[in-house]
Amino acid sequence: MVQPPPARPGDAVEDIDTPALIIDLDAFEHNLSLMASRLPDGVRLRPHAKTHKSAEISLRQMALGAVGVCCQKTSEAQALVDGGVDNVMVSNQVVGAKKLARLAGLTERATISVCVDDASNIDAIADAMANESPNNQINVFVEIDVGNSRCGVAPGEPAAALARKVVAAPRLNFAGLQAYHGSAQHMRTANERRHAIEAAVAAVEKTTGILSADGINCDTIAGAGTGSFENEISSGVYNELQAGSYAFMDADYARNLDESGEPVSTFKHALFVMATVISSTRPGHAVLDAGHKSVAVDSGLPTVWQAESISYTGASDEHGVLAADNDAPTPGVGATVMLVPGHCDPTVNLHDWYVGVRNDVVEVVWPVTARGAVF
Ligand SMILES: Cc1ncc(COP(=O)(O)O)c(C=O)c1O
Repeated sequence: MVQPPPARPGDAVEDIDTPALIIDLDAFEHNLSLMASRLPDGVRLRPHAKTHKSAEISLRQMALGAVGVCCQKTSEAQALVDGGVDNVMVSNQVVGAKKLARLAGLTERATISVCVDDASNIDAIADAMANESPNNQINVFVEIDVGNSRCGVAPGEPAAALARKVVAAPRLNFAGLQAYHGSAQHMRTANERRHAIEAAVAAVEKTTGILSADGINCDTIAGAGTGSFENEISSGVYNELQAGSYAFMDADYARNLDESGEPVSTFKHALFVMATVISSTRPGHAVLDAGHKSVAVDSGLPTVWQAESISYTGASDEHGVLAADNDAPTPGVGATVMLVPGHCDPTVNLHDWYVGVRNDVVEVVWPVTARGAVF
């Protein structure tokens, strides 16, 4: 059951019920505009909606020039299309007749793309599309493994063989290569990220070379995330960027370093979990109402916003423990703190609502449209 929103537009920040997922609207709008302004001619943005799972935010990104959005799951794609997003790429493999029928059905209402790395999956997509009206097509990307060791066929001839099969399949439109390097995103130094993307570019070129000799054009080379997108831009090879976290910036991304060895500061922290102190029984120790069920800790514990001497030191299901350095005071019972999540995507999936705040007043409340959409 979806819970009622923790606040209403016009409420003061201190009146928001907690734990609540907060967007600092000024920082968020700054991030969206900054990314849109960074794109050179010929490079498109298709932000990843797995970060925010929100039709509202997708439409805002598209209003600033994004060609559409990505997501990872068929049910996410459905929620976004239902919310009015007309161009969605599932940057992932979709396996199983039920899911493929659902995905194929979306081509009636939106431009849909999907990734493949397996010949039998191409046949299965063609079978699902055969049940749709004859005018509908689905864009298919061959995903290559550019060093991430997750999904993706080997670059070169194995990828080219799949591309030829897509080209030959009815109702399937070969759209290009999916060449996302996930593990590059959180490599801490700028050098490491640059080298990883140089290797990814070489893998792309190995594949496009074979395809162009066959007369097959790769319209789109897609990939990139918040950690590496500047490298993909400067490659001159990637022409569609999939960064997602840039909209919110989490604590883990803030640990990446720029060319001069300083923490990357391109984007601002815009996503917070607002939590309340529910217990403080001894000096230097306080307990929040936000633990594992309110904030994801897979990429490290949250940091406490604008409170250098206070750390979030441990989470259990419904509790988060704060500790103060060197006898600094901890907030008392009833006080609230803003946590910067270690990882924005799984944190968002724990909440039904975004509370958008400006100048300490709630301005908007948006549903997390695709919360729990894991099918
Ligand atoms: C396929 C794909 N593209 C792009 C991204 C976006 O990365 P980020 O949120 O780190 O910007 C992800 C994130 O996991 C992804 O899986």
